[in-house]
Amino acid sequence: MSDLTVYLESDARRPELRTADPALITGHLAHAGILFERWTAEAPLPASADADAVLAAYAASIERLKEARRFCTVDVVRITLQTDGVAALRAKFLDEHIHEEDEARFFVEGTGAFYIHLDSRVFRVVCGAGDLLSIPAGTPHWFDMGAKPRFTTIRFFSRPDGWVATPTGDAIAARFPFFQPDAARAA
Ligand SMILES: [Fe+2]
Repeated sequence: MSDLTVYLESDARRPELRTADPALITGHLAHAGILFERWTAEAPLPASADADAVLAAYAASIERLKEARRFCTVDVVRITLQTDGVAALRAKFLDEHIHEEDEARFFVEGTGAFYIHLDSRVFRVVCGAGDLLSIPAGTPHWFDMGAKPRFTTIRFFSRPDGWVATPTGDAIAARFPFFQPDAARAA
């Protein structure tokens, strides 16, 4: 289940806004220049689907986004607690960073939380199955896959040499709550 929480950057305890309404999430994020969409699979997608089946199921939406945002390649990544080096992978993206290209991710299954630092605010977007989020190049953000990661995403790339994270050096991420999927559902 996707949701959006908006904080002032100076206050990680009392959010200004919290909503799970997809239309409100899309609207608030669009106002901040961030693309959020809900996609529906064009073909049945079993839990065991391989990368080719995942890409086929969302082929039209993938092509539309590639054309609109000038992405040239996509891949499919599945992360679980069993993934090699998963703790280091989680830690790598927990510090605020930027990329030289848009970071666009579509969640096929599972969850993860993006924290986007914009205009003195932090927009926390918890993405779930069916969510497409694209963070503009140069926008400070971090990502928390949670203590028990489990998600499959389609990643979009603008350049063949891929996508590199450059730390901003700002320790802001440490002041904000970690992503706890079970707590998010209970709240
Ligand atoms: Fe990133």
